[in-house]
Amino acid sequence: MTSKADFSTDLLQWYDHHARVLPWRVPPAKSKAGALPNPYHVWLSEIMLQQTQVATVRDYYLKFLSLWPSVDDLAVAETEDVMKAWAGLGYYSRARNLKKCAEIVSDEYEGIFPQSYDALKKLPGIGDYTAAAISAIAFKQPAAVVDGNIERVITRQYSLTEPVPKVKGQVRGLVSNLLPVERPGDFAQAMMDLGASLCSPKKPACSLCPVGSSCAAHLEGNQETFPVKLPKAEKPLRRGAAFVILNKSGELFLQKRIDSGLLGGMSEVPGTQWAARQDGHLGEQALPFNAEWKRCGTAKHTFTHFHLELEVWSVLVAEPKTLTEGGWWVPQKDLGDEALPTVMKKAISVALPEAFKDKK
Ligand code: ADE
Repeated sequence: MTSKADFSTDLLQWYDHHARVLPWRVPPAKSKAGALPNPYHVWLSEIMLQQTQVATVRDYYLKFLSLWPSVDDLAVAETEDVMKAWAGLGYYSRARNLKKCAEIVSDEYEGIFPQSYDALKKLPGIGDYTAAAISAIAFKQPAAVVDGNIERVITRQYSLTEPVPKVKGQVRGLVSNLLPVERPGDFAQAMMDLGASLCSPKKPACSLCPVGSSCAAHLEGNQETFPVKLPKAEKPLRRGAAFVILNKSGELFLQKRIDSGLLGGMSEVPGTQWAARQDGHLGEQALPFNAEWKRCGTAKHTFTHFHLELEVWSVLVAEPKTLTEGGWWVPQKDLGDEALPTVMKKAISVALPEAFKDKK
């Protein structure tokens, strides 16, 4: 069994030399000297990093900070502007909860984030993982942070052969036992960095690992078998249609999705009602009005629980009249400023291949 003191000492020593440089992070040298990161920065980054890679988050994070430098600024922002800035990052309920959480912290906590795991967990969008990460990183609370990378490190270290959902509690307990009192935030981030670099899913670099000498999987030579996972459910394929409607001024018609559910509150081109459990209508019968429609091709996108194929149709209409209540016309050059989720950008690009070239 790995000694608690050795594991955290060896890991933190490695982190002191190899920590990733990330814009929301206080580097280890400063952290050791007592510096703490801004809790707003930690919270914002952790919400963005749920289900999203560091490389994708970086630019979004910097854009949000330049638009809304403090939680009070974000609290008074227009929700529409927040959704626009979030467009492309996916899992849009995160953006809606981000705004609600900012309002609560600003209005009820005078703009100061609560420090404890329990108080953080009561806020919108903050679950077990995020509450633990914020309390450890921003406030040096001894919280056990467990994400997918950390699960891999621990199941290997202790050779936990039960499938992941079953060992979650055990992993959390083992992380708690390893936690160093003085640097719980650095410890969490060191575990994340180890999981994101040396302790990779395939071909881990065990010879370079600071905790490799105590790693049961390394000693057994079966590292890649951890973490043990349950077989993944097949994703169903759903189909639907998307209608790219243009007018003679070169504008494109958009409308807003309802606030709840998949892509809630985001913008879209009109289309048929596809959903995770249901296809939308297809073919010519699905077209919303009679006109010279052109079948442009197919847009493919994968959501968490299903694949989607959208038949894309386009049409040029004479009049820029509003087609649905709450819809609007957008000059094509301004499409990059709209709250369009990736699937909609793909659909529009099938009809207008240049639409998002050089745009984020
Ligand atoms: N993934 C989630 N939180 C992270 C963090 N603070 N640093 C690096 N990767 C992360």
